[in-house]
Amino acid sequence: MPDRIALLDQSAREIIRGNDKGTYTIPTAGLYPYQWNWDSAIAALGLARFDIDRAWTELETLFTGQWDNGMVPHILFHEQDDGYFPGPEVWGGIGPLPSSGITQPPVAATAAKCVLEADRDAGLPRVDGLFDKLLSWHRWFMRWRLNHGAVCATHPWETGRDNAPDWDGAMAAIDPIGVGEYTRRDTSHVDAAMRPTKYDYDRFIWLVQRGKRLSWDEQAMLDDAAFRVMDPTLTFTLLRAQRDLASLGRELGRDVSEIEAAIAELETGTDSLWNATLGSFDSRDALSGDWANSISNASFLCWYAGLEAPAMRDTLAKVLEHVEFGVPSLDPRDPRSDCKRYWRGPVWGVMNMLIGTGLQEMGMTEGNELRASTARLIEQHGFSEYFDPRDGEPAGGQSFTWTAAVWLGWASPTAGA
Ligand code: DGY
Repeated sequence: MPDRIALLDQSAREIIRGNDKGTYTIPTAGLYPYQWNWDSAIAALGLARFDIDRAWTELETLFTGQWDNGMVPHILFHEQDDGYFPGPEVWGGIGPLPSSGITQPPVAATAAKCVLEADRDAGLPRVDGLFDKLLSWHRWFMRWRLNHGAVCATHPWETGRDNAPDWDGAMAAIDPIGVGEYTRRDTSHVDAAMRPTKYDYDRFIWLVQRGKRLSWDEQAMLDDAAFRVMDPTLTFTLLRAQRDLASLGRELGRDVSEIEAAIAELETGTDSLWNATLGSFDSRDALSGDWANSISNASFLCWYAGLEAPAMRDTLAKVLEHVEFGVPSLDPRDPRSDCKRYWRGPVWGVMNMLIGTGLQEMGMTEGNELRASTARLIEQHGFSEYFDPRDGEPAGGQSFTWTAAVWLGWASPTAGA
């Protein structure tokens, strides 16, 4: 094995260990000092390369924050840290631990299936302990968040793609009246040009205050909807996670008929995300009916969700003509593209991995190409949160857990060895 690969593997392990708080990892010190939901599930994939027991603990800790209604929060505030805003008191979460009041893309069942594959004997009792919790989270999505079979977000942060242009229309419909004064912390850690604008933050915080006022009651938030957008990230990751949960359930000898029915409903629901004019899967405002008209990296999660989607192959080829390092968060031909600003243009290793895994599973050559370009990106530019898709310049937080996990679990030539 070339030394540089061994050194990169070692750096990735050190980053994960450096962000390890014992029973959970943080995405990166300073900018994100708590446990984030989908970051944690991805971290488990990296941990599984060198400490399988710790990978299971990561997932188990995530579910210690699960609410009675099944929701798994997007942030668990295990220990107070004044370097992050909005903290637990702003959210007023109603779960067993201080938490946010919204969720994030449900990739934990898929992560559990991958960790199980690393050691079946050690993993089966751990999956057995997680199964009902995963089922209850997936049920919560099916009960509260479907619109024409696609999954809706009630806050942009739920999609993981915080400031994507996908939400611009729905955000413009919000008047953040009464949001008051607050101090952002993110821009003290990272260049403001790489972060969401104040315009976006006012609306992010207004939605948090509103959810808290409604005691995070899903029925009340549905009756008085302020933001409800059908999202490809949530829809495709949930569909994939349901398939993986069904497979885990069969292995455990559980009745999976409810999960199979959910899969069928979500499969049909993906049709409602097809924007025929754009020739792509897209986000759609459930309140106004407007399309976002965004070819984002989430559009290409269709293969990860197990759809064949032949028309998306062409769309992918057109996007990749303009970039060097994988699938950008927004088509660079889109006038809204901003290659440095978070989810409005940069490329993310984690999205490359999810898209690439889907393509590889479908037997499409683009999957291996995407893996190779992600490996090149990390070899040349390190373990940043995200990167400029044209030249790979690192952006956002540094020493990032999920970028290290993407390297160890997928992009490194030693992954899967
Ligand atoms: C942040 O604080 O930027 C997070 O992305 C919210 O989840």
